[in-house]
Amino acid sequence: MSNKLTWYGHATLGLETGGHRLLIDPFFSGNPAAPVSADSVSADFILITHGHGDHVGDAVSIAKLSGATVISNFEICNWLTAQGVEKTHPQHLGGGFKYPFGYLKLTLALHGSALPDGSYGGNPAGFLLTTQDGKKIYLAGDTGLFGDMKLIGEEGIELAVLPIGDNFTMGPQDALRAVKLLLPKHVVPIHYSTWGLIDQDAAAWGARVEAETGAKVHPIRPGESFEF
Ligand code: NI
Ligand code: MN
Repeated sequence: MSNKLTWYGHATLGLETGGHRLLIDPFFSGNPAAPVSADSVSADFILITHGHGDHVGDAVSIAKLSGATVISNFEICNWLTAQGVEKTHPQHLGGGFKYPFGYLKLTLALHGSALPDGSYGGNPAGFLLTTQDGKKIYLAGDTGLFGDMKLIGEEGIELAVLPIGDNFTMGPQDALRAVKLLLPKHVVPIHYSTWGLIDQDAAAWGARVEAETGAKVHPIRPGESFEF
């Protein structure tokens, strides 16, 4: 069994695992880094970390077109239902559920979560996915550094997907410290260089992380994939 992670720019990811197609934080329309448009993607499940517009993105239209089940916190799922999304699965921080694609747990994130229309979006989250073949993928979401990343790392992380853009999330310095807490085998950096405000040199960051930790960093470009 193989797993394939595709970066669509900013925090938008595709994950193919065990024959299931997941989309995470599907922000295509208005995303200057997106290599494809929202109407060219489809999914079985859509995962949303928090309510901000650059993460909820095109979730409503993609869910309606593809019939995907949207997984997020309780408040965001209620909001999506009000937008006409038919299938949602609400979870909350610390809770896990066994889906056909694996066991998915919501993790802490230090951030905000207001929805695009100002509605309350609950608490922001990250995701810890245990795939059918037993690999643990940590999708941090938008977050600052927090010490309990060490607890997440204790689970044994195959791949950590971390924001490095600074300003709205961890920057390169704190993301390096996050790698030291999480001890993942592989790292993919995201949430950078979408706009000038969060420009970062991911290759330079990756070289530094590899020099100071045992992790292998994969600074893929929008549209590229990492298989593991
Ligand atoms: Ni955000
Ligand atoms: Mn964001």
